[in-house]
Amino acid sequence: MCGIFGYIGHQQALGLLVEGLRRLEYRGYDSTGVALLNDGEISYHRTVGKVGNLQSILPANVPGSQGIAHTRWATHGGVTLENTHPHRSFDGKVTLVHNGIIENYRALSKSLIARGIEMVGETDSEVLVHSIALELAKGVSPETSVRRTLKRVRGTWGLCVMFLEHDLLICARNGSPLIIGTGNGEMFISSDPHPLTSHTQQVVYLEDGDLAVVTKDSLKLSSLQGGSQEANISTLDEDWGESDLGDAPHFMLKEIYEQPDALRQCISGRIDREMGSGRLGGMQLQHNTLIQVPHVRLLGCGTAAIAAEIGQMLIERMARIPAVTHIASEYRNNDPVINPKALYLAVSQSGETADTIAAVKEIKLKGGQVFGVVNVVGSSIARLCGQGVYIHSGPEQSVASTKAFTNMVGALTIFAMQLGRTRHLSKDQGRELIQELQQVPHLMESYLENVGPIDEAVELVSSASSVLYLGRGLSAPVAKEGALKLMELAYIPCLAYPAGEMKHGPMALLEEGSPVVVVAPNDHLKEKTLSAIHECKARGAKIILIHEQGDEIAEEAHVSIPVPKVHPLLTPLLTVLPLQLMAYRTAVLLGKDVDRPRNLAKSVTVE
Ligand code: G6P
Repeated sequence: MCGIFGYIGHQQALGLLVEGLRRLEYRGYDSTGVALLNDGEISYHRTVGKVGNLQSILPANVPGSQGIAHTRWATHGGVTLENTHPHRSFDGKVTLVHNGIIENYRALSKSLIARGIEMVGETDSEVLVHSIALELAKGVSPETSVRRTLKRVRGTWGLCVMFLEHDLLICARNGSPLIIGTGNGEMFISSDPHPLTSHTQQVVYLEDGDLAVVTKDSLKLSSLQGGSQEANISTLDEDWGESDLGDAPHFMLKEIYEQPDALRQCISGRIDREMGSGRLGGMQLQHNTLIQVPHVRLLGCGTAAIAAEIGQMLIERMARIPAVTHIASEYRNNDPVINPKALYLAVSQSGETADTIAAVKEIKLKGGQVFGVVNVVGSSIARLCGQGVYIHSGPEQSVASTKAFTNMVGALTIFAMQLGRTRHLSKDQGRELIQELQQVPHLMESYLENVGPIDEAVELVSSASSVLYLGRGLSAPVAKEGALKLMELAYIPCLAYPAGEMKHGPMALLEEGSPVVVVAPNDHLKEKTLSAIHECKARGAKIILIHEQGDEIAEEAHVSIPVPKVHPLLTPLLTVLPLQLMAYRTAVLLGKDVDRPRNLAKSVTVE
């Protein structure tokens, strides 16, 4: 993962670099550093920890109008100062920041050591900086030195290189995102569009295999092989600017409370009330194509894969088309059989998850058509697919995904409806669903105004050695999402199981007082879930029950958390809310870093 920010221009760079890093911190926060070029000297400032730690060690004034910066999520090599970027070459002439993985770094490092070069740290990135410096020492241009080095490298990179004796930066991309913002006599480099919006709306997205020579007023683009190419300038959506914390204590809480508006944004203009159908223009699907779809495959990682599982069920229920969700990292490596008539959906908040990107490439290579279900406009998956639906959550900063999850489910609901209307879903059924879906943001608001006894649930789970989450049907993935949230934020081991499977293993964990979170909306499976509740209670478990308001199932609970009633196919959009809050408040109570959980990062751009 990691975040890269770079600047070359007429302003003092330090403040810009630190602010850029602060906005990219969600991509990794193990260690952080900056390097600035001024008057023939490069100054380095690096530290283990977050951008705040860096700020506390920075001198008040570090002059220089050119610099590169990095926030690291450790892959190769521990979290140490030596492994912190920017890395500098043995002769001090080259400095670089890198995001990605150099697969053949061992061989490259051996050959550098054989030439007498000492490796300072353990990162794979370090081999790049020394190799570039060796090439440069042969008298070639900075561009040639980077090109020659990258031709010997196997792996992925988003790279920004600074040279002691040249007034330029060199950027390159292969698999890890890099965007160049073009200003007036200044250029900005960033891993994502976020930090660029306050400086410029005009950007160039580097593609895999691109190499860019950037000066303060020029951008020369070429391919790694050497042929020059035109830089396509895109205009950024201004929405990417709205990402400040405001009065909220954490981004996660802010984003939980943004869900009603985010969902409105996702639904707006995308439903055809008259026909009782969805209207997802970006899918570019004709009705006669939809009729022939033999099956749907959905792909994603983490929370996106869980949202995809809900989408899968909705597609089967509404359209009666076989649908299956795959974890992208598995799918891409299992030599999947691709049916060119099937629909493939790549679900991803960031649009940059390396495993999902690789799965998309595998499907496309085999003639399949992939649609993106993505939040970040212009991200790699969005561009790779060229068609799909933006979920319009707005920027999501907290590592734990909340509003992107509900909007993924919202977008997939509309898609399932659209698909369903070409098949088994009647106009009346479609209209009823639309009416209910339009109510959901309002119902979310009403729940968020009165969230119920979340703190009682927090008291039970915060002291538990493990927590079991149960649900059936659409609530099984919701239970999974709840377990993922608590585990990633509070570091409490959590298991999620479809309620019926509980007796085939997880029940062995239950003892007097074990907390079990059960998601049981008033759908056709509620009675069956009730049996699981009884089985757990018989073993002394304490039940935290998420149920619909007014439902008598509440009597079964030790902690009863009601959510507003809604159409049985839309319950995940409401039942997930108390689970998000439970994880949030548990993490706060235990003093964990809610927005930046340990060892994780938001955008996983490495395998
Ligand atoms: C990381 C994040 C998760 C996210 C997953 C997939 O693991 O911590 O919150 O769900 O990546 O990310 P994507 O951007 O593809 O949705």
